[in-house]
Amino acid sequence: MRVCVVCIVLIAASTRIEASTRTPTQLGGHARLELSEFLKRRFGLGRIGQLGKFNVERGAQLAGIQIAVHEDSRLRLLPLFRLADESESQILSYFKMGNVFVAHDRDLIVGITQLVEEDNAIEIVSLAVVPERRGEGIATGLIEEAETVCRLRGVRRLIVCTGSWETENIIFYVKRGFRIFNVVPDFFTPEKGYDLAIRDQVQLEKAVTGA
Ligand SMILES: CC(C)(COP(=O)(O)OP(=O)(O)OC[C@H]1O[C@@H](n2cnc3c(N)ncnc32)[C@H](O)[C@@H]1OP(=O)(O)O)[C@@H](O)C(=O)NCCC(=O)NCCS
Repeated sequence: MRVCVVCIVLIAASTRIEASTRTPTQLGGHARLELSEFLKRRFGLGRIGQLGKFNVERGAQLAGIQIAVHEDSRLRLLPLFRLADESESQILSYFKMGNVFVAHDRDLIVGITQLVEEDNAIEIVSLAVVPERRGEGIATGLIEEAETVCRLRGVRRLIVCTGSWETENIIFYVKRGFRIFNVVPDFFTPEKGYDLAIRDQVQLEKAVTGA
């Protein structure tokens, strides 16, 4: 059976992401690739600015903003992680997982999203934009990047969770095609580092077309 290059890449695209430190292996055969390595091989993508090419048509709206896989230390992103989660202990428990995409305005990081693949779904574990750059469509661009990753990975389900009191966030996600599929009572407990009166978690999902 003659295996063309496109087939090899498609096989690679259907492999599951391991949110681990597993190193890339030879492409072909039973390839398992870290997402950032996969994107680099699949699209010859470097680090800054090239992933944004996926969104040429959005160029006008997000002029100057580039989205890229973040490969440097994530410690410098902690201030952005803290915008999306009040619990330091929770952040430290997950911030090294999966892959992080950053929105850059030249060298300035203005937004992040963290994607973790598990059980045939990709979860947006963190999403944040610096206050002074909100309302410009940056988070919408990051969510579209998450959908692009779903399509590349052949994953049809995109998940995000937020607090039941975060009504603006819930509306933000619902307006972008997400639907509430579950509510977890008392998720945000003091044991997890939260000091909140309302503690329920709302879980939303989006079926990604073309995945
Ligand atoms: C939620 C969040 C990521 C949205 O980021 P954003 O880049 O402002 O989002 P966008 O610009 O793509 O869209 C925001 C929506 O709010 C509107 N908006 C207008 N001005 C805005 C402003 N100053 N701030 C936020 N949203 C604004 C936008 O028009 C858009 O409206 P629409 O939903 O009707 O299209 C951002 O507010 C944030 O970082 N919040 C704190 C962290 C957080 O709660 N993260 C989510 C955890 S689940």
